[in-house]
Order: sequence, then C-alpha cells, then structure tokens
Amino acid sequence: MNQQVITRTDEQTRDLGQRLGQAVTGPLALALTGDLGCGKTTFVKGLAQGLGVSEGFHITSPTFTIINEYPADKGLRLCHLDLYRLGSVEELACIGYEDMLETDAVVVVEWPDLLKEDRFSFDMELAFAYDADYNRVISFFAYGQTGTNVLSKMFS
Ligand SMILES: Nc1ncnc2c1ncn2[C@@H]1O[C@H](COP(=O)(O)OP(=O)(O)O)[C@@H](O)[C@H]1O
Ligand SMILES: [Mg+2]
Repeated sequence: MNQQVITRTDEQTRDLGQRLGQAVTGPLALALTGDLGCGKTTFVKGLAQGLGVSEGFHITSPTFTIINEYPADKGLRLCHLDLYRLGSVEELACIGYEDMLETDAVVVVEWPDLLKEDRFSFDMELAFAYDADYNRVISFFAYGQTGTNVLSKMFS
C-alpha cells in the first residue's frame, strides 16, 4: 500500500508526522530518504509528538551524534538516527543497532543507504522530495504486514 502527500508548510509536515505517530501501536523501523532540507527532521518532530514524547525534549537532528533517543508513550521509545556520517555498516554494531530493533523502539533512520545495501529491512520508507514550487512531496511505501497496518491506520 502506498500513499503520497504534498505539504506546503513545515507545520503541515509536522502534522503529518504526528498522524503517523498516533497510528503507531508497536515497534517499527522507518527509512527517511531525500535531499537535505526536504523536511525529514521536521517530520520526526511531529512523529515524536504523535508518539507522546514529552514537550520537554527538544528534537534536534542527530547529524553529529548519529543517534538521539527519547522515551515515548505506549511503552515505546523513539530512536532517531542520521547515518550521513557513518563510514560503514560495521560502525552500526558499536551503537547497538540490532539490539535497538529487538526492543520496543520506533527506529527512524535518515540517510539509510548503508543499511539498505545490507541485510537490514524497514517496515516503511518515506521518500521526501521538492516539487516545482518548493512544496514537499512525501511518498509512503509500506513493506510487510507491520508497515501496511500502520499506514492504513494513518490514512483511514
Ligand atoms: N513543507 C515543508 N515541509 C518541511 N519543511 C519545510 C517546508 N517548507 C519549508 N520547510 C523548511 O525546510 C527546512 C527542512 O529542514 P529539515 O527538516 O531539517 O530537512 P532534512 O532533515 O530533510 O534535511 C526547515 O527549515 C523547514 O522550516
Ligand atoms: Mg535531517
């Protein structure tokens, strides 16, 4: 099942992320692709809200930290990764990526290219792009039952 949404403001992108967060009921692995400035981190801010991450946490891009983690509602936590600066898949072992997937985490990965070449899989991919008017076109691709369930709940 696939969906596409156009957002015209960063608030609309946040709202969309929030809707996804509200549709989540369990662990999930999301890949966020698209050029710099397309709204990936903005979307994660909304996602955090939808997952019930406390407003006291300021969601920032994990560009230099590689991973930021936040406690969320529903017994989940949000693990926000940015792998742009990661040199190799081996480095992922150091940050415990596989353990993360086995716990109650919503794992969101910006710049997931290294992982897609490897054995790791995602429940959903969100592709961010600009249109001719610099709106953001956000395409959702669900893989497997988990991703499909969340996506249909989000758009029902
Ligand atoms: N429709 C929109 N959706 C998301 N961001 C937008 C939109 N319009 C303008 N912006 C701005 O674009 C920037 C997006 O940056 P960011 O979310 O950090 O992108 P990325 O993480 O993909 O590099 C923000 O400064 C945001 O305010
Ligand atoms: Mg970003």
